[in-house]
Formats: sequence, structure tokens, C-alpha cells
Amino acid sequence: MRPEEIFERIGPLPYMRVEQARVFYDFITSNNLQNCLELGCFHGVSTAYLAGAIQDLGAGHLTTIDLTTAVDRKPNVEWILGETGLRQFVQVFLEPRSFNWRLMKFLEEGRYESFDFCYIDGGHTWYDTGLAFCLIQRLLKPGGWVVFDDLAFTFRESSNRDKSWVRRMPEEEQTTPQIKRVFDLLVETDPHFGSFRHMGQFGFARKEDSAWSKEQRGKKNVEAVIARALERAGYDPEFRVMLLRFPTRALSLISGMPESEFIHLCFLETDHIAPIPNDISEYGSTIVYVAPPTWERTISEQSLEAMLRR
Ligand SMILES: C[S@@+](CC[C@H](N)C(=O)[O-])C[C@H]1O[C@@H](n2cnc3c(N)ncnc32)[C@H](O)[C@@H]1O
Repeated sequence: MRPEEIFERIGPLPYMRVEQARVFYDFITSNNLQNCLELGCFHGVSTAYLAGAIQDLGAGHLTTIDLTTAVDRKPNVEWILGETGLRQFVQVFLEPRSFNWRLMKFLEEGRYESFDFCYIDGGHTWYDTGLAFCLIQRLLKPGGWVVFDDLAFTFRESSNRDKSWVRRMPEEEQTTPQIKRVFDLLVETDPHFGSFRHMGQFGFARKEDSAWSKEQRGKKNVEAVIARALERAGYDPEFRVMLLRFPTRALSLISGMPESEFIHLCFLETDHIAPIPNDISEYGSTIVYVAPPTWERTISEQSLEAMLRR
């Protein structure tokens, strides 16, 4: 559904304007951005415009996230999606504190590199938007786009400037364009992002390469399992023996991953307490060093901690 038709059905509501919606309509349909994410829906105006583009694309879905308070808006996102008949294209999540909590859940569910497009229009702080970008960086597919709204926004110049929660902010936080800081300092310097574009108050960036390819993610998962195994080998004698003698079985046991993921690993005991990096054996396998178990250490865990704190 084209922006003009949506506008006719819902009328002039804040915030996204119909001429801005045209830009997003063209952007989504011409780049075939099927799996879209929106952070901050407010009444659901931009939600409807994005969903309308997805409908005309012929395939795709929009996920939008806002706070639980969004349900009390008059009108709210449900009403707008009902009026426009676009409900089937949208999944709405309303969170008690932040969209970032929901994004954490998406990562827990393994939804790495699954979105083609993310529109960030909520929070407007370094804290919210900075963390959101860090999460989006992982959730976007290679070739996917992130768009930041309100680059120049400052709390001092916003309609909220006289609210007590804004007045309580440090002076610098009130006057700094915090989204611009995220764009300049995190997005434009990110090695995996490029194609930066500024269009009015919008900042566009494209994830150019696969920062989190399946292969790299698999490697990271294995690293995380190794870390858990080394920790357990420090206090669980039975597990320690299994890890040293049958590493693939031990690692599969604690991770639920197939043993084949670990066949390149072998574990060797060392006297070093502080971590030392993995090595490669003459046969090409990766040697992981296992520190002495706590029960054999001449120095107790508590005194070691105390030493490190000093
Ligand atoms: C500017 S409005 C969004 C406008 C909407 N995109 C449009 O153009 O029609 C910002 C929205 O972000 C939401 N928001 C702000 N901080 C948030 C956070 N940390 N997590 C989730 N939603 C947040 C607010 O509740 C508000 O509805």
C-alpha cells in the first residue's frame, strides 16, 4: 500500500511524514528489503508506512518494538494497523524498559544476520542507541541497512526539554546530539559498515560484509564452550579427566553440540595459572592449555584473588 493511501486512512499523526515515507517506500521496494525491524513505533505511523512497502514488495515482514506504554497512545499501533489492514505484516513487541532487551532475546534465539533493514527511531540517547547499534550489527544480514532518525536531535531543543527527567540530565547530555555521536563514532568507524549516506535528519549505513558469518559464529561458539569447559575442569575432577582423555565427548556433553565440532581440539595440562593462548600441534590440531585444578594449587583461590586485587 502506497504512503498516500495510508495517509488518507490515518490522517496527519506524528511522527513520520508522508514525504519521508515515500523515501522509505522506494528504499525498501527497490532494495528488496524483506525482513525489517523498527525500534520505536509511537502511534505506529512509521510502522504502517514500512508495512505498506513490505506489502507491495510481495514478501516480507516487519518487527516493531516499543515500550509497554505505547499501548495507551491514542491512537495506538494496533488501531493504525487495523485501519490500514496491514496487521498481518507486523509483529509488535512492547517491552517494559527497552527494545534492547528484546534484541538480546533475538540473539539468544540465534537470529544473527536475519534482518535486511533496521529503522532506529527511539530512545535518542547514547546509551539506548549505542547499545542498539551494537546488537543490530549482529542482527543485520550482510548487505542489510540500518537507518538512524533524528541525527541532530538534542534533548535541550526537544519538546521534552522542560520535563524533570531531562532537567536531571548532565548539561552535556542535554546539549549533545547523541544519535549523531553514535553514527559518527560507532557506525562510520565500524569495519563492517559502509555506504554511509546523510539525508536530512536520517543517517543510512550498510553492513558490507559478514561480520558474523556462520563459520565465524561457529568458531565463537566453540571458543565459548572451551571457556566453560576450562572453568569446570578447575573444580570438577571427573569432568577434568574426561576433558583431558575424551575432549570431544566432554565438550559435547556440556554444550549439546555434536562431537564433530570439536575434533580439532586437544587439551594439555600446564602449571600456569593465568590463561595462555592456544597452540597448534605438529599435526595441525589446536592445543588448549588446562590450568592446574583448584584442589592442587599451592595458593588458594581466595589468596589469588586477593593478590590480583592488590
Ligand atoms: C519518535 S517516537 C517513534 C516515532 C515513529 N517511528 C514514527 O515515526 O511514527 C519514539 C518512540 O520510541 C519509544 N522508545 C523510546 N525509548 C525506547 C526504548 N529504550 N525502548 C523501546 N522503545 C523506546 C517511545 O516510546 C516512542 O514511542
